[in-house]
Amino acid sequence: MTLYGVGLGPGEADLVTVRGKRVLEQADVVYSPGRLSRSVALEHVAESKIGDLDFPMTKDEEKLRAAWKEAAAEIAPNARDGDVAFVTLGDPNVYSTFGHLRRTIDAFHPDVDLEIVPGVSAVTAFATALGVEIEAGAGLSLREAANGASPTGPDRMILFKVTDAPATHEGLIEAGYEVTYGRRLFMEQGETLVTDDPSEIDERDYYTLAYAEKESLEVEQATAAFQREAQTDDDDVSSDEESTTNGEPVADGGTEIALERAEGCAHGDCGGH
Ligand SMILES: C[S@@+](CC[C@H](N)C(=O)[O-])C[C@H]1O[C@@H](n2cnc3c(N)ncnc32)[C@H](O)[C@@H]1O
Repeated sequence: MTLYGVGLGPGEADLVTVRGKRVLEQADVVYSPGRLSRSVALEHVAESKIGDLDFPMTKDEEKLRAAWKEAAAEIAPNARDGDVAFVTLGDPNVYSTFGHLRRTIDAFHPDVDLEIVPGVSAVTAFATALGVEIEAGAGLSLREAANGASPTGPDRMILFKVTDAPATHEGLIEAGYEVTYGRRLFMEQGETLVTDDPSEIDERDYYTLAYAEKESLEVEQATAAFQREAQTDDDDVSSDEESTTNGEPVADGGTEIALERAEGCAHGDCGGH
């Protein structure tokens, strides 16, 4: 049978995928590494199915290795006899404890079948929560910013583990970034907060991320022309029937728009999206 690594999404029970929910419902035992992932799992399975694992709060690698060996020794026999799920918030392959379990199982219990069910990661959920569009062709980097760190370099960054927002903010502003913070996004537990003011989130909360974009970044999307056109129409109501962007009125009374500058589409890789 199988050990499933199931991504639960950012924390709201109905953001678990249909496949993830099915796997949880069918699993004989469901293990969770933390309180929050456990509470999301409990929205889909009975408490009697939740397995017991002990994870020490330590950075001591020896102790961590011992804990993962113990966890794998508890999980492996159950995954041979039946189906077992190990849940994580977000996606199991993004900054996740599941990696430790997978490596330990591979090393000591290589006969155990393993499958991963992807989840909605904070890496993508942040964009909706913060109202950010990552346009086709744009670059986006993922960094950690724990304990006031301010990584810089890329034009656009998602920063995880923002535990000292005021200190991180100072460094980012100095380096020419605009920054928005998101705390407990799409989470049932705790208050969701989106702000560009670091003093609003100066209290440490592990479930805090930031999106930083270079102030100097200029992006011109092909469809931005529509907004300019609408503005022109507003400004010039008397002559709006003749209004054009590139001077060519078209048959249906609309306007022909120059679409040459479709960034990111040069190689045909954004067709149909
Ligand atoms: C160890 S990483 C886990 C990432 C997770 N596996 C995923 O795919 O989203 C934890 C960091 O992700 C970010 N994070 C995860 N879920 C979040 C949420 N719902 N709201 C805000 N930040 C979140 C925070 O920066 C947190 O410190």
